[in-house]
Amino acid sequence: MGYTVAILTASDKGAAGEREDLSGPAIAELVRQAGYTVVDYALVSDDYDGLAAQLCRMCDRKKADLVLTTGGTGFSKRDNMPEATLSVVEKQVPGIPEAIRAYSMQFTPRAMLSRAAAGIRGGTLIINLPGSPKAVRESLSFILPQLPHALGILT
Ligand code: MTE
Repeated sequence: MGYTVAILTASDKGAAGEREDLSGPAIAELVRQAGYTVVDYALVSDDYDGLAAQLCRMCDRKKADLVLTTGGTGFSKRDNMPEATLSVVEKQVPGIPEAIRAYSMQFTPRAMLSRAAAGIRGGTLIINLPGSPKAVRESLSFILPQLPHALGILT
């Protein structure tokens, strides 16, 4: 298959060195098991501008086939990931986050509180995942089987 993945974790505490990022590594583990190559990883604060800049860098410079983000999809003032994502994509892909939310309701009704978005920038598919390692595993394992078909159309 050979698709490349960039991983972006948004966490104020993580970026300040006050909390270990377990969600980014959880994404890396799952995608590697599925045959992807992780080409980039960044852990940054929840600042909107920084998130948008990292997303553009991962798409335009790193030319990742897939960008998976974790964190910043909830209701707090510092949750900016969906807005940063929607500001950089050319096309929205609402079906993926809709499917994640619907599937995740069996684990917690709070899945409805994720505002995650997804979209396409150039040849890159960007997908927001929620912030916890548990949520990452539940969400990503569900969508992974569908991604080769999606990425195959994009590239
Ligand atoms: N989705 C799954 N599969 N599992 C979860 O535990 N947690 C929810 C939701 N989606 C959760 C989930 C909760 S509690 C919140 S607040 C939102 O994701 C947003 O999380 P975030 O702000 O960390 O991105």
